[in-house]
Amino acid sequence: MDTEKKTVTHIQKGVRKILEIPGVYDLFHTLTGGNKQRERHFKQYFDLKAGSSVLDIGCGTGVLLKNLPDGVEYHGCDLEENYIEHLNEKFKGKGIFYCERVGEVIREEWKGYFDVINAHGLLHHLSDEDCDMLLETARLYLKDGGYLVTVDSVFHKGQSKMSKWLVSKDRGQNIRSTEGYDDLAKKYYNKTETELITNHLRIPYSIYVMAMYK
Ligand SMILES: C[S@@+](CC[C@H](N)C(=O)[O-])C[C@H]1O[C@@H](n2cnc3c(N)ncnc32)[C@H](O)[C@@H]1O
Repeated sequence: MDTEKKTVTHIQKGVRKILEIPGVYDLFHTLTGGNKQRERHFKQYFDLKAGSSVLDIGCGTGVLLKNLPDGVEYHGCDLEENYIEHLNEKFKGKGIFYCERVGEVIREEWKGYFDVINAHGLLHHLSDEDCDMLLETARLYLKDGGYLVTVDSVFHKGQSKMSKWLVSKDRGQNIRSTEGYDDLAKKYYNKTETELITNHLRIPYSIYVMAMYK
């Protein structure tokens, strides 16, 4: 992909830069307990039958793919060439991987195609405008009755100072309140189920899960 066209969506300096290395990214999530939480999350939202189709927007190192049942058709997109190269080496034949920014080009063959779309850890990196593009494109790509699942760092009422501080140190530069995420979803989805999770890591940290139905 033409790197000139890439939009920088997160802090790419200092300690947070090394999270772009796939092995370091995975180790970080293992140490904080993030990978265990993800396994629980994927069981809850991606308990799919063989033959189901999944689009993973911002697929990173393929954490969702590792947690899917056999026979699920997986397509993963990410802006980072490092991640896509890693996926092509490690998961050849288990999915199809694209180095692209979702929504920049509309794929006709994906319209109404996917049962479930995942965007794990994306919205808090994106401006409102880019979130609009992602949410609208995902809606276009979902089958009727399909759903989009997002998970993001969040600010909320009653949050401890430490949790607020740690959340503010995330690489994403557009962390919102629960209400802020709800407002984004409302523009494109009539039915959204949400979950605020505050005790899933070994550190005080809060995330917000939304399942948005077409
Ligand atoms: C915090 S990471 C999460 C990775 C993965 N979903 C996970 O849970 O481990 C966010 C990823 O989204 C990618 N990304 C951000 N905006 C994107 C977009 N519009 N289209 C595709 N990938 C995007 C970034 O390159 C980054 O790898």
